[in-house]
Amino acid sequence: MTETLDIKITKTNHSRLAETDFNNLPFGKIFTDHMFVADYVDGEWKNFQVIPYGEIGLSPAISALHYGQSFFEGIKAYKHADGTVSVFRPDKNAKRFNKSAERLCMPTIPEDIFLQSIAAVVDIDRDWVPTQADHALYIRPFMFATDPFLGVSPSSTYKFMVLLCPVGPYFSKTLRVKIETYYTRSAEGGMGFAKSSGNYGGAMLPAKKAVEEGFDQLIWTDAKDHAYVEEMGAANVVFVLDGTVLTPSTRDTILDGVTRDTVLALAREWGYPVEERRVSVAEIIEGAKNGKLNDAFGAGTAATIAPVGSISFNGEEYFLSDPKTREFSQRVFKEMNAIKYGTTPDTHGWNYIVNAE
Ligand code: PLP
Ligand code: COI
Repeated sequence: MTETLDIKITKTNHSRLAETDFNNLPFGKIFTDHMFVADYVDGEWKNFQVIPYGEIGLSPAISALHYGQSFFEGIKAYKHADGTVSVFRPDKNAKRFNKSAERLCMPTIPEDIFLQSIAAVVDIDRDWVPTQADHALYIRPFMFATDPFLGVSPSSTYKFMVLLCPVGPYFSKTLRVKIETYYTRSAEGGMGFAKSSGNYGGAMLPAKKAVEEGFDQLIWTDAKDHAYVEEMGAANVVFVLDGTVLTPSTRDTILDGVTRDTVLALAREWGYPVEERRVSVAEIIEGAKNGKLNDAFGAGTAATIAPVGSISFNGEEYFLSDPKTREFSQRVFKEMNAIKYGTTPDTHGWNYIVNAE
């Protein structure tokens, strides 16, 4: 730990907590009372503040809007039965935040400042952390360029902010997915490994078309041959093929997911064979045809463990087993929840406790 960050706190004088319906939490639409904001000016981070959630004034010329110097993270905080609030593996997100920053020519932020910023705002809004099963407080740290300048060059000023949303699961049903063989999310040398805003904007049209065709999500394939599986729109993809836990190895086209890493760590501990390598579309389709594809799911912070019910490829739909009967994804989902919600000991040190005295 470096020294305690000097954060100026201005609390709202009208909390919206009492009027929020916690039984109806559409993902990402309900914000807590406060947000965190800091400025990068003259080569350093300063003006650390927690302020009431609300609009911010910005020049219409900021380069984040014109050239996409903007990226984000996604993390969740959980409430334990004794009222403890813990954030799941935020140190991993801090590291990925800085990888995204470097790829986009933006300033990094010391890991400790990142963690303290999140803890400060989560602590103030801790009563917003939902208590229902499978619910959490979604934490959205993000950074964007603020120079009012229309030249294409890295900005010299930035904002780092953190928003909070009480949420339920991102996907409410078993996913019908399509293997994408035309559009590309990212190519080698691109920025697929970064959580850059542009990756998501560029994925919207293919995702919209897939939804129009009746699918819930895409499975992206490699840009060159569309022959290898990469990941899903908002989650990594994990399979169990003939008893082996299998997922595409991370590379510069794939986001190195925290959930993916957690799933693989648990699988290894439980003694499953685990393979991280290039995964061909052909072997997945073959497994779906001959019944050896035992399990398939999306793994992500918002998505949690999102079972795949069917995979479509070249107009053929292949149905997988009933998710409730799947050994691996059921077990990993339960164990991850037990750790996050504090009902089993956190032997890995994955829970970052907010305001532990
Ligand atoms: N891939 C993409 C494109 C994502 O947006 C996400 C979500 O954050 C993931 C993978 C999963 O990453 P994580 O488990 O760190 O949330
Ligand atoms: C997350 O899981 O945090 C994501 O970033 C997914 C999202 C784009 C909703």
